[in-house]
Formats: sequence, structure tokens, C-alpha cells
Amino acid sequence: MTEAIPVPLQKLRGKVAIVTGAASGIGAVTARHFANHGALAVVIADVQDGKGREVAASIGSNRCTYVHCDVTDEHQVKCLIDSTVKLYGRLDVMYSNAGITPPSAQTLLELDLSSFDKVMAVNARGMAASVKHAARSMVEKGVRGSIVCTASFVANCGTESLTDYTMSKHAVLGLMRSASVQLVKHGVRVNCVSPGMVATPLFSETFKIGPEEVSKMMAAVYTDAEKYGPVKERDLADAVVFLASEDSALITGQNLVVDGGHGTKALSLLKS
Ligand SMILES: NC(=O)c1ccc[n+]([C@@H]2O[C@H](COP(=O)([O-])OP(=O)(O)OC[C@H]3O[C@@H](n4cnc5c(N)ncnc54)[C@H](O)[C@@H]3O)[C@@H](O)[C@H]2O)c1
Repeated sequence: MTEAIPVPLQKLRGKVAIVTGAASGIGAVTARHFANHGALAVVIADVQDGKGREVAASIGSNRCTYVHCDVTDEHQVKCLIDSTVKLYGRLDVMYSNAGITPPSAQTLLELDLSSFDKVMAVNARGMAASVKHAARSMVEKGVRGSIVCTASFVANCGTESLTDYTMSKHAVLGLMRSASVQLVKHGVRVNCVSPGMVATPLFSETFKIGPEEVSKMMAAVYTDAEKYGPVKERDLADAVVFLASEDSALITGQNLVVDGGHGTKALSLLKS
């Protein structure tokens, strides 16, 4: 839904932005939030073409376009950036958000390495390709840009299952920290947002559960929900807009955790 944010409060006026993994969940809500914050153009990239086109159309064809891009394919990532720069002249904001979970929880002793490879291909390799090509275009054009990557509340700790997913999100932090050190001299900032548990399609697929069970799990984690409510996509979108905008002009190399303080409780559910 289009939200009327008054012009003086819009934080991304005139910016050109890309959001990967924007056909669904956190990416879709953030792409819309970018547009509501006055972005000149929001390019959404995903592998779910039908859903991606629907999200773009609902935001408005005058300011949002959909591009098919599988982030595991570096050539497709480069084409995504090149076509955006060709169309709009530059790239100001890259929100690299595409991510997957493995088909089943993976303990180390049972680690299926082909599943490991798939998770790393999207979450680590795809993230590296996206940050690399976004940074190259910003450096080449002299843009003082902002790159934001989605990590996770599991990026700072070990888990009892989801070994490969946890490793992939630690890799995102390493990428962000190295990129931020290397790009600061070019005026390009790189930060992460780390969601706590959010009831997106990825969440239901990870736990193989329907809406009712999702609600139960959320209630088990966010026990003081009447005060703050569970973390929602919009909470992440607000954090990403902050990191993408001039409000965070002096912030780089940071991981902003958005979990309502409930990451530890959520970890106990990852045992199952
Ligand atoms: N939902 C949570 O509880 C949670 C918690 C921590 C971190 N995250 C992270 O947040 C990010 C967004 O996840 P979400 O919860 O919105 O899930 P989601 O499944 O709703 O969205 C992820 C999107 O990424 C896309 N995608 C997957 N593989 C891709 C590829 N190879 N190339 C391009 N796009 C691809 C999917 O099609 C999907 O649209 C992910 O990086 C995820 O790891 C989510």
C-alpha cells in the first residue's frame, strides 16, 4: 500500500535503489518503503518473476521495475547493476537481501554438503557478487552510496541446528566488514541489518509450518508482544531506510540487529 510520507520527512528523495529478494517478505516491504520515502527509482530483483512483477506493479510502474536476477549468477548480477545505471544514470542504494534456508535443519554431524553448497551459493556468494558490482558502479561513478546487506540474528552466535545457514550469515558479516574498510575512502558505506524471527514465507518454509503454528512460535518468542509486538517486515524496512539515508552518514561497518531483544529466546526454538 502506498503510504503518504510528507516530503520533508522522506529520507530517500531522488535516490536510485536496487533491492534483491524483493518478490516477497522483507525485501518486498522494504522496496515499497523506499518508494514511499521518495526514491526516484526502485529496481526489484528476484527469481520469482510472477510475484516480483506483482510487487513492482503495486508500487507503481513510474518508479518501480522488476528485473529477473539470480544472485548466484555473477553475470546476471552485473547485468542488473549495468541496466539500472544505464536507465537512471547511477546507483545510490543497494539493498542486498536475497537469501534462502536449507530444506531441513542441519546439524554438523549430519551436514549434507550439497545443501550446504546451495545455501552458501545464495547467501554468501550471491551477497558477495551483489556487493562487488554495486560497489564497482558507485566507485566508477563517484557516488557516495550506501550498501545494506541482510544478515540474521544467528550471524553473531552458534546454533544447535541450521549449521550451513548460520555459517552463511557469518560470512555476510565478514563481507560487510571488509567491504566497509575498503570502500570508506570512496565514500561508500556498507552495513548489515540482522532480522530476528519474522513471519515471512522463508520462516514458514524453514520450519515447515502453516500460519497457525507460525503464530504460536511467534508468541513463544515475543512473549511481551502486547508491549512491542513481534518483529515485522516493516521494522526491518525502517532500519534499512535509516542505513540507506543521510541519517546514517557517519555509520559504516555496523550490524544493526532488529530482534526486539528476543534473539536468545528465538535460538531455543532453532534446536527443533
Ligand atoms: N524471516 C526471518 O525470520 C529472517 C530472519 C533472519 C534473516 N532473514 C533474512 O532476511 C532475508 C529476506 O528473507 P525473508 O524472510 O523476507 O524471506 P522470503 O523468502 O520472503 O524472501 C526472500 C526472497 O529471496 C529470493 N531469492 C531466493 N534465492 C534467490 C536468488 N538466487 N536470487 C535472487 N533472489 C532470490 C526469494 O525468491 C524471495 O523472494 C534473507 O536473507 C533471510 O536469510 C530472515
